[in-house]
Amino acid sequence: MKIVVIGGTGLIGSKTVAILRQGGHEVVAASPQSGVNTITGEGLKEVMAGTQVVIDLANSPSFEDEAVMEFFETSGRKLLAAEVAAGVGHHVALSIVAIDRTDNGYFRAKVAQERLIVASLIPYTIIRATQFLEFLGGIAASSADGNIVRLPPCLFQPIAADDVAAIVAEVAAAAPRNGIIEIAGPERAPFNEIIARYLKALGDPREVVCDPEARYWGGRVEERSLVPLGEARLGRIGFDEWFRRSQARA
Ligand SMILES: NC(=O)c1ccc[n+]([C@@H]2O[C@H](COP(=O)([O-])OP(=O)(O)OC[C@H]3O[C@@H](n4cnc5c(N)ncnc54)[C@H](OP(=O)(O)O)[C@@H]3O)[C@@H](O)[C@H]2O)c1
Repeated sequence: MKIVVIGGTGLIGSKTVAILRQGGHEVVAASPQSGVNTITGEGLKEVMAGTQVVIDLANSPSFEDEAVMEFFETSGRKLLAAEVAAGVGHHVALSIVAIDRTDNGYFRAKVAQERLIVASLIPYTIIRATQFLEFLGGIAASSADGNIVRLPPCLFQPIAADDVAAIVAEVAAAAPRNGIIEIAGPERAPFNEIIARYLKALGDPREVVCDPEARYWGGRVEERSLVPLGEARLGRIGFDEWFRRSQARA
């Protein structure tokens, strides 16, 4: 099968490309560097020729509210139009658990991306994942106030990028579901406990506190604002195994 991975050089994209190639598929790792740009439209028509499946794993270079909305709307429109023109049979996109019940600028942009997919009439599967374990350092940095890391009192269930890529590859090789599936890590715990565990494992002396006034990317969150409410497929890699692998790779 010819599969185009948009954002094929990114964290999830590069892992997904490797798994699909091992599975014997013809895979294009598409990104601006390889001449495929979903914002300018460059290379889209050419790369879609003979493509059965497109996996959208692109991400906005800026996470500022307006920039991220502009990115996912423009990218989604141009990509889906090229897929319609080429007769692509399955569009797979990676989205985020709870984007439609938890408010922040990035989540609003992902809602816009999902709406374009559903309206496009291309057979699709949207995979909503919880936050990646690889994102823990970024969360700690963005929540730091000097030596204190302030986090809201909510549950967290992060998933390893290796698990995400394995599930994305499996979904892409299967029939479209025309719906959403949710995936999450195998361990659910209070947000502050997971970040404290991460900082402790790194030997980072910053103190983590649970603060009801703390925001998540500028938005208010409640106990279950970031975790799946219904059935979710769970990854296999827990925190300890993920940390061991990430240190071995470093
Ligand atoms: N972070 C999380 O916890 C989380 C959770 C659930 C879902 N997600 C979603 O997962 C997806 C993948 O995230 P990631 O962390 O793997 O992303 P990433 O590592 O930041 O990679 C982004 C990819 O997008 C490509 N890209 C950027 N602008 C592009 C453009 N104009 N045209 C084509 N490709 C472009 C980049 O190419 P270059 O390398 O050439 O710049 C890169 O390959 C995102 O849609 C994100 O919303 C994230």
